[in-house]
Amino acid sequence: MASQKPLRLGVNIDHVATIRNARGGPHPDPLRAARIAEEAGADGVTAHLREDRRHISDKDIARLRAEIALPLNLEMAATREMLGIALRHLPHAACIVPERREERTTEGGLDVIGGRAGLGPIVSALGEAGVRVSLFVEPDKRQLDVARELGAPVVELHTGSYCEAFLHGDAIGVARELSRLQEAAAHGTSIGLEIHAGHGLTYDDVKPVARIPSVVELNIGHFLVGEAIFVGLAASVRRMRELMDEARAERSALVGGA
Ligand code: PXP
Repeated sequence: MASQKPLRLGVNIDHVATIRNARGGPHPDPLRAARIAEEAGADGVTAHLREDRRHISDKDIARLRAEIALPLNLEMAATREMLGIALRHLPHAACIVPERREERTTEGGLDVIGGRAGLGPIVSALGEAGVRVSLFVEPDKRQLDVARELGAPVVELHTGSYCEAFLHGDAIGVARELSRLQEAAAHGTSIGLEIHAGHGLTYDDVKPVARIPSVVELNIGHFLVGEAIFVGLAASVRRMRELMDEARAERSALVGGA
């Protein structure tokens, strides 16, 4: 039977900070969310320090590093300012994402090919400091090849197009985007990259992505925080964890029975 890698869940707590910031006070506290996520089965906590600080703040990053045992995955733009912050706090991992001030959320993956000259020194500086670097990319083999050339140990595959197709009931789009994710994940593994995935995942569409054998981490935020309004954060994280584990077990049974 093919060996199955464990699948980690990174819980993105940005939108706890979005709700906090709507009133400017301390509540709800993203650190409390991180602790609840940990108890509910998260393997890591993810936070995006945006240039405009619309949700997570510098102080949140300092507190997450000082007070939370879970590995911190800092999402950051490839800028000198963010590099300085990452080197000061030394998170377990840094996921480099494209960022535009006017966007509502991260739109599309990084252009690693076009941006290699700027990305290279940032990947190296973070790597030399012991931070595990991942590049957030579209499921496109050429982007993965260049990520590898730049020395990034990890890529996170953007699942946004797959989730959009799912949301709109576009079965052909779902099949196309899923196969792009599967092919990119297999290619990435074959060239020595660790494969993560995320963006837009929900209870309904997580399983096919969780079944991709070479994906070892999913980063999920908006849906979990939204669902927490109705069922509580511990329950939403626990349910996602269950679905991911079920998907992995279903795949093992399929491979084992083949
Ligand atoms: N991965 C990356 C690189 C992201 O930028 C985001 C959004 O911040 C996520 C995962 C999580 O996406 P969502 O909040 O839609 O689950």
